Formats: sequence, C-alpha cells, structure tokens
Amino acid sequence: MEERLNCVILAAGMGTRMRSALPKVAHPIMGKPMIRYVADVAASLSPEKIIVVTGHRSDAVEGCLAGTGVSLASQTEQLGTAHALLTAEPHLGPGDILVLYGDVPLIQAPTLAAFIAFFRRSEGVCFMTTRVDDPSGYGRVIVGDKDAITGIVEDSEAEGDIARINIINTGICMIRRDLLSLVKAVTPDNKKHECYLTDVCKTARAAGVTATAFFHPRPQEVLGINDRVDLLEAATAVKNAVLDRHMKAGVTVMGRDTHIEADVVIGQDTVIYPDCYLMGKTEIGRNVFIGPHVLIKDSVIGDGVSIEGFSSLDGAKAAPGVRIGPFSRLRPNTVLAENVHIGNFVELKNATIGEGTKANHLTYIGDADVGAGTNIGAGTITCNYDGKKKHRTTIGDRVFVGSNAELVAPIRIGNDAFVGAGSTITRNVPDGALAVTRAKQKHIEGYSRRKK
Ligand code: UD1
Ligand code: CA
Repeated sequence: MEERLNCVILAAGMGTRMRSALPKVAHPIMGKPMIRYVADVAASLSPEKIIVVTGHRSDAVEGCLAGTGVSLASQTEQLGTAHALLTAEPHLGPGDILVLYGDVPLIQAPTLAAFIAFFRRSEGVCFMTTRVDDPSGYGRVIVGDKDAITGIVEDSEAEGDIARINIINTGICMIRRDLLSLVKAVTPDNKKHECYLTDVCKTARAAGVTATAFFHPRPQEVLGINDRVDLLEAATAVKNAVLDRHMKAGVTVMGRDTHIEADVVIGQDTVIYPDCYLMGKTEIGRNVFIGPHVLIKDSVIGDGVSIEGFSSLDGAKAAPGVRIGPFSRLRPNTVLAENVHIGNFVELKNATIGEGTKANHLTYIGDADVGAGTNIGAGTITCNYDGKKKHRTTIGDRVFVGSNAELVAPIRIGNDAFVGAGSTITRNVPDGALAVTRAKQKHIEGYSRRKK
C-alpha cells in the first residue's frame, strides 16, 4: 500500500467576499497569514511535497510563504477547484494527494492524521465532512450507506430539501494518485461554469469507485473563511487557543480580551492584566508584571520586570528588574539595563540606558547613551534633530540632570556632572562640572505697589 503523501493547498481564488485589495489567504489571523497556518499544518505531516496553487495576486501569496520551502503552481485563470488541483499535477511527487484549502486554516494535524487513516481504508476518494447549524455557503453532502457519498451539491445549486442538509463539505479531500483521471473527467456544467472538485464524486461513481465521507465532529476547526466576519471568528478561536496554551504553561491571564500573537514566548508566573497586546517576536521572562492596556511588540523583557498600565513598547529590550510605566513609550532600539526606572509620559527611542538610571516623568530621550546611576529630571529633552539630521547625546554615569533641561545634540555630559534645572546645554559638560545656562534671578522691589 502506498504510504507516501503530497499536500496540495488551493489558494488561487480572489476571495471576492473579503472586499479587499489583499488576496484572502494573505489576510493575517493573529499576526500570521491565513495561508501559513495551512502550510504549517501540511509541513507537520512530513509529506513528499507541499504544492500551493496560486493565481490571484500570487506575488502577495508567495510573499507569505517565503522561507517555507513549498512548491508553487500557478493557476492563471480560476476555472474551479478541480482545475486548480490539476495545475499542481506536474509538481506532484510519489504518493496520495491530500487537498487542503487556503481558506480553511484552523485544521489541526491530529484531525488530518485520522482522515488519512480513514482514506487508506477507502476506495481512493474521500471528503472530510462536518455538521453545522447553518450550512449556507458550503457544499451539502448527501451520504448514503457505509459513508458512501451520493453527491455534493454546491451552495449555489442547492434548493429545497438539499439546501437544508447540514452535513457539509469542509473542502478537505484525498485522492489516490492513479485516480487523478477522475478529476480530469470533471466538466463545468453548473451555474458558475467552474470545474468543481466536488464533482469527482460523480466521475468516480461512473468509473465504479465509491467516494466516501469522513465525519469530523468539530465544525469550528474546519470553518471556511469567506468574509471578514468569518475572519474574526477564526481569529477569536486562535486567540483563545493561544491564551489557553500560555495559561496551561503557568502564565496568569486576567482577561480573554488580551491578544497574544502566535510566536510570543512568556515565562512562568508572569501576570498579564486585561486588554494587553503582545505581538511579533516578543519574549517575556518569568515573574513579569504587565498592567492593563499594555502593548508590547518585537521586544525582549527580562525576569521580574514590571510594566504598568497603558505603556507601549516596540523593539525594546528591558533587563531584569526594570520598571516601566504607567504611560511610558519605548520605541525601537531602546535598551534598558538592570533596575532602570522609566516613568509616566517618558518617550525613549534608539537609546541605551545604564543600570539603575531613572527617568521618571515627562521626558524625551532619543538617539542617546545614558550611563549608570544617573537621574534624568522631569521635562528633560534630548534635542536630537536639527531639522535635517539626527545627532547623539551621551550622558555619563551618576549624572544629575535637573528638571526641564534641553540637551542640544551632538553633546556629551561628563560623569558626575550636574545640569541646572531649566538649562539649555549646547556645549559638552566636563566630568564633575555644574552647567547652568539660565538667566540670573533678579527682584524688582515694590513692583506690585507701584503698579497699583
Ligand atoms: C468550496 C467547496 C465547498 C465547500 C467549501 C468549504 C468546491 C467546488 N466547493 O466552496 O463544497 O463546502 O469550499 O469551505 O470545491 N480556488 C483555487 N482556484 C479556483 C477556485 C478556487 O485555487 O479556480 C481555491 C480558493 O482560493 C480557496 C479554495 O480553492 O482557497 C476554495 O474556493 P472557494 O471559491 O472559496 O470555494 P467555496 O465556494 O467556499
Ligand atoms: Ca471558501
């Protein structure tokens, strides 16, 4: 018996009902393109070949598949699912053919394994079916004795009693390699003038082969995404599964509204308050506290870090013991050493901050290197932009920058230096010096009396 396998993923359709310039299968679900879910589950079966059939906006679909090593077949005209499968034929390796749909992304490997086992006992043509409350949009499957399929009627053709059948075709099917002639025999005699892969049931019967139905009991897993309402339903299912996975691995999640993308890594005993967004290539250590409404993207957060509510981090690194927020904004290339404190309304960008340094209130530090044990007063601004170019600010160790200082880059503030509150610093400050630039305070005696 042939045990080898080819996976063909149909993804050439345009997905009109998405009403989008982006092809349907390129739409992301929790940060990962729809087609990648299907390519990943196919790869987990270790097939001889994975062939993705692309057509409409193939550039965008192929972009989603970069680095996966799948083969691409091009279906220049979308003449139907049977025609799409045949365009993959020249790329097939030895073995049976498992057909997956680019717009049925939630299918899981154990379900496919059960389906493949069912197929191996069949006559060589199998469709995966499920039962749904509302079958509209799906092909209705008429099942007879011993799982034999009498017919599959597409939604656009289904009327009366047939339309009410709630056993539907998931699209996922398997065909023995030597029965591909049955797919070639399909004709486009339907309202849409397309060659429907589902009509293989008919051509099989004519050739004396019985197509059989595998029943899968969880319809949520085989949801076909046709519009953006289905897209949200799928995203919610993926989101909940990801949250469950983290909770089972020891992360406290305080609200189902928190959004954690597929590749985010989180250590044990980290606590996440409601409505947080953890995205991209983010790694979060153990015992991290993440307050409500925090967004973290492409960042590395060390053990024991505390991020208070309403903070936004993108491309930041925080070493263990750092405290951030509430209301802090860390932009790309912010690197915080151990025990740094960044407080409310502080914005950092392209800046390294040394161990134990504090910037607790209302500050902008951009394109800067700040040493250890330094205090940045409220309202400090690194003036990094001269209207044309960005310049760097260097602040040493144990520096005290008074409130409301402007440091006009390029500039260096030496170790142990002081900057007087309200100063605009335009020249380098030597180690240990006090720099003050504000005007001397003077008093006009009796001023208010004379005014009256
Ligand atoms: C299809 C099935 C239907 C099933 C449903 C499950 C057929 C004829 N119908 O209907 O029985 O209930 O999926 O979700 O198969 N595609 C191509 N080239 C084409 C046409 C389609 O690659 O020429 C691709 C699409 O990109 C998509 C998939 O095939 O990924 C399904 O096509 P779609 O038009 O969405 O079929 P449905 O009407 O949903
Ligand atoms: Ca579909």
